Order: sequence, then structure tokens, then C-alpha cells
Amino acid sequence: MAEKIVVEFDQHSKEYQEHGMEIAAEIRTKCPVTWSENYGGYWLVTALDEAGAFYKRPDLFSAAKDIDDPESPFQGIQIPNSAPFVKAGFLEMDPPDQLEYRRILNSFLSPAAVVRWEPLVREFTQACLDDIIERGSGDFVEEVVNVVPAVLTLAMIGIPLADWDVYCDPIHANVYTPPDSPDRPRVDAASMEMVMNLMGAIAAARENPRPGMLKALIEAELHGESLDDTAIMLTLFLVTGGGFDTTTALTSSSWRWLAENPSERDRLTSGDASLWDTATEEFLRYFTPAQGDARTVTQDCEVAGYEFSQHDRVLISFAIPNRDPKYFEDPDTVKLDRFPNRHAAFGLGNHRCIGSNLARMQFKAIMQESLARIPDYAIDYDGLERYESIGVINGYKAMPFTFTTGAPQGPGLQATIERWQKILDDEAAASA
Ligand code: HEM
Repeated sequence: MAEKIVVEFDQHSKEYQEHGMEIAAEIRTKCPVTWSENYGGYWLVTALDEAGAFYKRPDLFSAAKDIDDPESPFQGIQIPNSAPFVKAGFLEMDPPDQLEYRRILNSFLSPAAVVRWEPLVREFTQACLDDIIERGSGDFVEEVVNVVPAVLTLAMIGIPLADWDVYCDPIHANVYTPPDSPDRPRVDAASMEMVMNLMGAIAAARENPRPGMLKALIEAELHGESLDDTAIMLTLFLVTGGGFDTTTALTSSSWRWLAENPSERDRLTSGDASLWDTATEEFLRYFTPAQGDARTVTQDCEVAGYEFSQHDRVLISFAIPNRDPKYFEDPDTVKLDRFPNRHAAFGLGNHRCIGSNLARMQFKAIMQESLARIPDYAIDYDGLERYESIGVINGYKAMPFTFTTGAPQGPGLQATIERWQKILDDEAAASA
């Protein structure tokens, strides 16, 4: 039986933000599974073998925080809970119900299904760039990569595209605003507005269903019964939360890295198209937008030589195993052509990201359009702002940049929203 080794580790600390992977590498040499006394105490898993072994045993490592009351809407996949303290839909459920929810959404997120959305992603990226191109400066996070995933996700759900802003601000701000922040009341008010909008969208779709995930959820049955509004809302919370901020974090981190590595940027933009495939996986591995989630031990057990007690909390990192030297040669270096690259950035086991095909498509489309349109950009470091804690999402609040001005090639964001809304409305009318 492995000894319980106590380490000093806090995924929300400034040290983790700045030197997380060095700290983790040192911890890993002590033991792949260690114990941190922070936040009431939790196990920390830092090696890929153990992360895989634990994530693949939902019977022993539950995604529900409160294993005595897993139906409660107050759970928490993070340590400590991130606000707001509501359950992130089926991410915080265990099989078989969790798998039933995935079954409802799977057909919208298959490789074949996401292809139809690529023109929307490319057009909205161009529309965002059209709005800033004459200025010669902008904020890549605020004005490009916050916008495109939000509009796309609403289109796929079946919510009016013009509402993207109602969802965008609270979803990002909830990730980076701690419960004690002075900005919390504003973020809570914005979250409430989003909930009201979502409830309105559910009511409207019950009256007048249109193609998309929302209609599928309304028509679905679980244990022979329809889903109620709360179950649908929590599922859509998860889809929006899961889809927006992770994609924004991946694109913005990669955008900065490519600005700082111009020869690699040239190699990517002028090279073989297949380099985009390996580069996408490498950026996912290296930046790991979702850094890790927690599980709760369901019963006293021994797994992989470690002894766990019922109710123990376990933080199973994705980011740290993604630098595991056993699986990744020279793990702290970005190699655009790294292959094989069996990273854990989309998770491991039964909760593995259901949106991975969509994420990959979006990443490539946004980056390719942006790099082609403004190839000579530079980051403005004075305004660059990383999330205060990257323990949940390794993202940026702001990423100002400058570039050579140009002429708009299209009508900009507002008109593009109207154009695509018309396309979706016509499709809905045709399918009614
Ligand atoms: C770069 C982008 C993305 C990354 C890095 C990412 C990462 C992850 C990870 C690590 C998990 C597993 C969490 C766990 O096991 O605790 C997950 C689950 C999930 N992701 Fe993603 N994700 C991304 C994009 C998306 C997109 C675009 C969607 C939109 C549909 C999405 C929807 C979800 C959902 C619904 C789950 C829960 C799956 C389940 O519990 O069965 N994700 N994601």
C-alpha cells in the first residue's frame, strides 16, 4: 500500500498560475497520488496512468459531490465549489442517467453533425474581425473568441442568436469571479438574467419547437418520463458553460503562443494542412483549458495501490498528466507535429468531452480565419489579463492586440447575426 504523502499544493494560487507545471513535476517525482491539506483536504492525482484508472471507475469515484444526496441541485465538480453552486447538469451525474443524457445530445455533436456549422464559425470570425479591422487594434478575447463560440452554441441549441451577449458575460465571469469578489453581485445579477432568458427559451420551444438540442431535450424521455424545465435548464447550462469558456481559453492561449513564436506561426500557416490536426492536439495538451475536475469516493476502497475512504475528495488533474514524461517526450515543449499525442485535455472515461469534435472544428476555423486576415498581429502586454485563478479554466480575461489596418470585407457582427437568424428561421419553418 502506498504511503499517504502530504504536499503543499493549491491549484488556485498565484504560484500555480505562474509555475504550476514545475510544481507539479516535482510533486509527481514524490508520488503520482498525493494529499493536499487545502480546502478541507483532497487527493491530488498527477500521473496519466492513475488519472485514467480513477476517471474510468465512476462506481468508486463519483462525479456527484454529495454522494449521500446525488439528486440535490447543489453539487460542485471543483475544489472548492465554484460559484454559482448549482449542479453542472449531467457532468455531475454518474451512469446510467449520465449516459442517457449523452444519448440525447450525441447526434448533434458527432463529427458528421458539426461539419454543417463550420461556415457559421468562419463567417462569424470574419464578422468580428470586420468590426475591428479599420481600428488596427482590438481585444482578441472580448471581440473575437468570446463571441464566436457563444453564437454557435445558441444556434445549435435553438435560442435566438441576438441573445448571445446575455449568455456570454455571465458564463465567462462565473469562471473567473471568486465568491468574495466585489464584482460578484454584478455577475450574480447577469447570471439571473441568463437563467430567465433560458427559462423563456424553454417555454417558447415548448410552444413552438424548432430544430436543435432544446427540442431534442423537450422530446426526450428518462425513465419513461419527460424532462422538466429544471433538468433541461441544467443541461443547457452545462452545454453553454462547457462549450464557451474552454474554446475561448484554447484559442486565446494558442493565439498568444503563435504571436511569441513567429517561425512556428509561419510553419503552421504555410505548411501541410495536416499540421493543423497535430497542432490542435498539441495546443490542447500543452494549455489544457479545463485543468482538472474532482470526484468523491463512494466507498472505502483500494485502487492502484492507494487506500481511499468514503467521502474523500479527489482532484484528478488533466493538465498535469498532460506533462507526464512517461507518455510525452520533452513534455514542456510545444511540438506542432507531436504524434502520437494521447492527451487528457478532453477528459478520460465516461465523462469524456461530448463536444470534442465541435471544439476541434471551431479551434481550427477561428484560428485559420484570424491568422489569414491579420497575419502580422502583436499582443499588447500592458492590457493582457489572465484569469486570477487558472485552477478551473486556463484562460484570459483580456488579450489586447494590434495589427495593420485593413478594409472590412463583410457587414460586421450585427448584420451577420441577422443573416444567420434568417437562415435558421427559414430552416425551422421548412421543418415544421
Ligand atoms: C477546447 C474545448 C473544450 C475542452 C478543453 C473541453 C474539456 C472537457 C473535459 C475535460 C470534460 C470532462 C470533464 C470531467 O470528466 O469532469 C468535458 C466534458 C463536457 N464537455 Fe467539453 N471541452 C471543450 C469543448 C466543449 C464544447 C464545444 C462543448 C459543447 C457542446 C462541450 C461540452 C461538454 C459537455 C456537455 C461535457 C460533459 C460530458 C459528460 O459529463 O458526459 N465541451 N469537456
